[in-house]
Amino acid sequence: MGSSGEVCVRVPAKINLELRVGATRPDGFHELATVFQALSLHDEVVATLDDGFGLTLEGPHTAGVPTGPENLALRAARLLAERTGIDAGVRLHLRKQIPVAGGMAGGSADAAGALLACDQLWQAGLSRDELRVLAAELGSDVPFALLGGTAIGTGRGEQLTAALTRGEFHWVVAAVDRPLSTPAVYRELDRLRTGRVLVEPRVSDAVMQALLAADPVALGEALHNDLEPAACSLDPALERTLAVARDGGALGAIVSGSGPTVVALVRDSEHALDLAVTLTASGLVEHVRRVTGPAAGARVV
Ligand code: C5P
Repeated sequence: MGSSGEVCVRVPAKINLELRVGATRPDGFHELATVFQALSLHDEVVATLDDGFGLTLEGPHTAGVPTGPENLALRAARLLAERTGIDAGVRLHLRKQIPVAGGMAGGSADAAGALLACDQLWQAGLSRDELRVLAAELGSDVPFALLGGTAIGTGRGEQLTAALTRGEFHWVVAAVDRPLSTPAVYRELDRLRTGRVLVEPRVSDAVMQALLAADPVALGEALHNDLEPAACSLDPALERTLAVARDGGALGAIVSGSGPTVVALVRDSEHALDLAVTLTASGLVEHVRRVTGPAAGARVV
């Protein structure tokens, strides 16, 4: 903690290099097998000691983010206080760069950042494992935002195994100001698959081998998202964005998680610049960013 009683945590966005969705479980969640990768696109969570619990926002992606107690970052702070019995409050300031409701786990990142920041601020002294348990209670993607890097996720996405990877991959992220609701996308997938027999989801060898070999061409071919048809069904313009990315020479292009953000894998930073210009010129997307992965998980800065 700084002398001013303030802690700042940087926390990454995620994409799913592969997302296989199985059947609905008794708790309403879907069984998943996924490969997460954290990207160099970050939110910052600044936590300051306070009597109560409050939240402020800054950045290009704040429309639609609640500032009341339903905000996932505030819920994370309260959960930590409750479980540790700490009688303290916090003011959270979120500097948001990650698209909201975009399929990149921005809300989950803020929750992970709030957990880590409040743990430091209140000197709660929780281990990474203890933080991970609280993270999983808050949402399926929150544990990965803490861990970062590249990891296989199973269960509802919260059970993680770090994956071996080599090198750095270059991505172009294309986001729109039209959020998609994650539950609505899962419901649409269920509707599209009505009557189909679902096998237990598992990740393919292709993605893992491409990651180990630092081979972007192979990774581009192996990218897969079971939620993509459902996201495109709810937001048909996404098909055009995917086509522009592929026509622009992307090694692979997919909807990120439940969408509507589209991510395109490119060869290098020069290719990223070319494709970013093409996607911006298409007029189909509002925010285009060039990023790399994997990136570290939540860190105090
Ligand atoms: O866990 P999280 O709060 O991020 O999930 C948001 C919603 O996404 C869930 O309420 C559920 O509708 C859907 N979901 C799902 N199966 C998963 C993860 C999320 O059905 N494995």
